[in-house]
Amino acid sequence: MKKSLSRAPGRPYNAPAMSFQAARATPRNRPVITLDGPAGAGKTTVAKRLAQALGFRFLDTGSMYRACTWKALEEGVDVRDPAALVDMIRRSRLELDGDRIRIDGRDITEAVRSERITRAAAFLADPPEVRTELVRRQRDFGQAGGLVTEGRDQGSVVFPDAEHKFYLDASIDVRARRRHRELTERGERVDYEEVRRGIAERDEKDRTRSVGALRKPADAVVIDTSSLSIDEVVSNLLARLGTGRAGSNA
Ligand code: DC
Repeated sequence: MKKSLSRAPGRPYNAPAMSFQAARATPRNRPVITLDGPAGAGKTTVAKRLAQALGFRFLDTGSMYRACTWKALEEGVDVRDPAALVDMIRRSRLELDGDRIRIDGRDITEAVRSERITRAAAFLADPPEVRTELVRRQRDFGQAGGLVTEGRDQGSVVFPDAEHKFYLDASIDVRARRRHRELTERGERVDYEEVRRGIAERDEKDRTRSVGALRKPADAVVIDTSSLSIDEVVSNLLARLGTGRAGSNA
């Protein structure tokens, strides 16, 4: 029998069957919730807020790809050279703490959000060998459960046995506007059309990479965030999780 996230009565969540549950080596007491979707669908903000509301840990897997990209650029490692990248990643200490990310002890949370890193990260995320390194760390992070994790492949590849899977989507125009606003607020001067083109290119890369490509897990709930506020998306997810907090701004 599926457990909901709280004991609120009368709000059963009709979750998909847990086909991998029986095979799991270490049973989890608390669930894993995955949020996948394209760039700019609102995953990071929503996942962070959802984790806060539930008292779960939060994992932004995009920031792991970004942090490795940041280090590769710092060290002059070619982001299209898988062997060099794997070697570099194996030598790296990646620490995720809430929404902060550190590599080798250095906090690079803000630095990894630049447009330069965004562009290069799409290449670093391609080679299967690189993904294997980072997926292993993501699974280690999530094995105890009580986790909200977001990315492209969290429900499909990394945690196929996740208790709750969501897929957040939005039109390309809405996603480009959000990204453009984020960059402008950070003080980066970027042209809207350029941002939109960049998102379209990353969509193409995300959807066509040989391993870990973006796709909707068959058992995910799909939510189009184009005309929804962050509060509305978070409330929607909490209601679907059966926490009895629908309509709250938490
Ligand atoms: O979500 P984001 O924009 O921060 O992700 C940065 C890059 O990493 C982006 O090119 C997609 C890639 N990525 C990935 O391939 N798999 C993930 N689970 C998360 C991100």
